Amino acid sequence: MDVIKAIKTRRSIRSFKKKTVPISDIKKILELASLSPSGSNTQPWNVHVLYGNSLKKFTQEMVKEFLKNNKKLKLERLNYMKNYRSPYLERRRKVGWDLYNLLGIKKGNFKKTLEFHSKNYSFFDAPIGLIFSIEKDLGWMSWLDYGMFIQNISLVCRSFGLHSCPQAAWGLVYKKANKLLKLNKNFTVHCGMAIGYENEKDTVNNLRTERESIKNFCKFYN
Ligand SMILES: Cc1cc2nc3c(=O)[nH]c(=O)nc-3n(C[C@H](O)[C@H](O)[C@H](O)COP(=O)(O)O)c2cc1C
Repeated sequence: MDVIKAIKTRRSIRSFKKKTVPISDIKKILELASLSPSGSNTQPWNVHVLYGNSLKKFTQEMVKEFLKNNKKLKLERLNYMKNYRSPYLERRRKVGWDLYNLLGIKKGNFKKTLEFHSKNYSFFDAPIGLIFSIEKDLGWMSWLDYGMFIQNISLVCRSFGLHSCPQAAWGLVYKKANKLLKLNKNFTVHCGMAIGYENEKDTVNNLRTERESIKNFCKFYN
């Protein structure tokens, strides 16, 4: 698959077929993604690959943790903005409502919203779950390097017929995840990713997101 097709067919997928993914494919994908650039070739990524029984045990614990403690769970860091403002607020609302409309979740239905959010912690039932960890004292550029690595994983997945969903949601449950994965105290959960074959029958995967026209975010200098 050429890179343009991979970019055009990548979408965040939130429902997967039961079909297992050969772990040899995941190894190849990670090897390819590790060719990503990073400042001074520092390669700040660490990947925890969960599948089979480990995935089942981990996700059971994590869904439980989220459902029990979601009201008091707090992020360790500022992921996006403290108080969302325009244009980020409108974009965030649009994708949220588009998703909830597809799912038939009405405004104010906190029970169903929570239920859907909790699916993040089972990796949306994907056969492969990746947790990305990072050394806490690494700076902005290392977090940016990490993003390039994660994007490469999602693109390479396409040439293996796989889809993915990057998940910041894992940052919210970092304490429990750090513990279950026995992370060294200098490390923390950065985010995660669900990987598997798309379940085309589930309407949640009908979500199509929009992008700003380049004329609204690019300036050309001649
Ligand atoms: C770093 C990052 C974190 C994300 N976290 C989540 C998440 O926790 N749960 C989720 O369902 N989608 C998550 N997404 C998916 C975004 O909602 C999605 O990329 C965006 O709406 C654009 O849609 P597309 O990926 O289908 O093009 C995340 C995406 C990125 C890049």
